[in-house]
Amino acid sequence: MSRWLLTGGAGYIGAHVARDLRASGREVVIIDDLSTGLISRVPADVTVIEESILDTDVVRRALDGVTGVVHLAAKKAVGESVDQPMLYYRENVGGMVSLLQAMEDAGTRCLVYSSSAAVYGEPPWSPISEDSPLQPLSPYGETKVIGEWLVRDAAAARSHASTSVSPLSWASLRYFNVAGAGAPDLGDTSVNNLIPMVLDALDRGQAPQVFGTDYPTHDGSCVRDYIHVSDLAAAHVAAADLVESAEVAAVFNVGTGVGSSVLEVMAAVSEVVGRDVGAVAVQRRAGDPPELVASVDRIAAELGWSAQRTLRDMVASAYAAGR
Ligand code: UD1
Repeated sequence: MSRWLLTGGAGYIGAHVARDLRASGREVVIIDDLSTGLISRVPADVTVIEESILDTDVVRRALDGVTGVVHLAAKKAVGESVDQPMLYYRENVGGMVSLLQAMEDAGTRCLVYSSSAAVYGEPPWSPISEDSPLQPLSPYGETKVIGEWLVRDAAAARSHASTSVSPLSWASLRYFNVAGAGAPDLGDTSVNNLIPMVLDALDRGQAPQVFGTDYPTHDGSCVRDYIHVSDLAAAHVAAADLVESAEVAAVFNVGTGVGSSVLEVMAAVSEVVGRDVGAVAVQRRAGDPPELVASVDRIAAELGWSAQRTLRDMVASAYAAGR
């Protein structure tokens, strides 16, 4: 049985990845500073090191006997990153530097990195493939691009014949719009994204808002590629299998390849809650691209992974989880 370190394993996505990694037969150790993570999400028999990955010594010690790392620990609110860029560079870029240094020191062989569709910014075409230009529009997206560069550069340095450190096998996963819950106690507790925001508005007896209905899309509202968090967790296991079985340097989009508009999401929520949610159209939100849908050909071909769950599954599971 191989042992994997999961950074950010007490977070919304991390808790799902923790369960799937264990179900794949791996031993899992989590490092999480619990700044947003919840210990209640972690299975009782998984060890949690309650520290920041910025502490390289702590990470180095945690890597003892570890084959690979799934790295999720990061800040992820786009608006906050615009207001506090240094915080994002310190946590996301500094965190990656610290982790890669510790992995080099410990000779850790494998890495799966949590990247984001935010690396593409406003894409010139859709669906968007992994080879498209990286033009992030926020400090958050910039830190995700830099994270990808850091992984690539660390791996290149470790592959030089002059170094005695083992090569680094890695995959970056560019998540599209993650939603839903794998169990009622694993929902997204933050209210930053569309489905939690709609459910939160309903909870408070308010009308959900559609940010713009004059976009050049089929119904005028923005189109996104929503991916169920359980499908995303399965993609991490497929990526861990890949990096463990061969020496690779890989980047994958993780989405369904199918776009849904904000109005279609509202319709799905109405269906799940059993009444029209009464969404109201408001002004566009600054910085929202009209359409962002993943090309998923590469991940299907190279990882044999594809999304299994529908938008309705995402909405219904989020609703059952209270968000
Ligand atoms: C956001 C981030 C993106 C990040 C992703 C996943 C921005 C600009 N982008 O994507 O970098 O990778 O989250 O964390 O913040 N909407 C409404 N009403 C609402 C809330 C949202 O109409 O109350 C619309 C938005 O305009 C957007 C869509 O719903 O078109 C999805 O929004 P959101 O869930 O915030 O995700 P993104 O903006 O796509």
